[in-house]
Amino acid sequence: MTKPKVFISRIIADKAMEKLATETEMEVWQEELPPPYEVLTEKVRTAGGLLSLLTDKVDAALMDAAPELKVVCNLAVGYDNISVPDATKRGIPVCNTPEVLTETTADLAFTLLMAAARRVVEADKFTRKGLWKTWGPGLMLGQDIHHATLGIVGLGRIGREIAKRARGFSMKVLYHDEYPQPDEVEKQLGVTRVTELKELLAASDFITLHVPLTEETRHLIGEKEFSLMKPTAVLVNSSRGPVVDQEALYNALKSGTIFAAGLDVTETEPIAPDDPLLTLDNVIILPHIASGSYVTREKMALMAADNLLAGLRGELPPNCVNPEAFGK
Ligand code: DGY
Repeated sequence: MTKPKVFISRIIADKAMEKLATETEMEVWQEELPPPYEVLTEKVRTAGGLLSLLTDKVDAALMDAAPELKVVCNLAVGYDNISVPDATKRGIPVCNTPEVLTETTADLAFTLLMAAARRVVEADKFTRKGLWKTWGPGLMLGQDIHHATLGIVGLGRIGREIAKRARGFSMKVLYHDEYPQPDEVEKQLGVTRVTELKELLAASDFITLHVPLTEETRHLIGEKEFSLMKPTAVLVNSSRGPVVDQEALYNALKSGTIFAAGLDVTETEPIAPDDPLLTLDNVIILPHIASGSYVTREKMALMAADNLLAGLRGELPPNCVNPEAFGK
């Protein structure tokens, strides 16, 4: 029996590749940079499955060029790079990799929070530049984390893990989410819901974003929102870059409207080398690595492989985000 063809848009964990190799005829993109859109379109022309990354645009035109395509599996929990409504119309299940990355991502968001509050990256650079002359009472002062108020925007899986971490630091935790958590979950996590985002922004010492990128959340945090924050506030974004208006963020950091920011994501990725944000000391910018631990990336790859294989067999993949597409 001939094996179904799949295209894998980057080298992923060995175990996942081995798994896919047993049941598919796979082509793996070997380069460090993503395949250009035209190349990806060409590659999926005869493919039954696509294992994509968040850097791959999967839209209606690409799907139309791939009449055999039975399933698209993203190696990420977010899937804003894929036009899900267009996939649904075409009966193509779209899959993601939830849960396995939740705690790893929350760990990094909390790391950013702490590092930005205590100026860890800036202080390290200061030391390396030979600027450390003596112990000083006013040297590199930052913001306290313990007993501060944390505002979580989006209390999904990752947001809830952040809340758990915050308890260890005796923080007061507020959250804003259109879906309230049941009372017992709020009690267990020690979180209080705030109905208006502006209330959360004004009351929080730390604000961390955990919403998907949609038309509603694009530039959720802009000039008006920064003006509501405390001058001592620290913003953390490990969701998607465009959730924050980056020009407004630059202005807020430069003018002291807020104290600092920790970013794992930027509006365009990678950030342009001449982006003004890179000139500021009170922002930490990481290259979108929140889920990047060895163990988690392997789990994500295995999950994506399982989704792909299920979709190719004509089964409902375990992590399908548009089950209504199934069997269309
Ligand atoms: C995701 O999964 O959406 C992250 O951004 C990458 O792990």
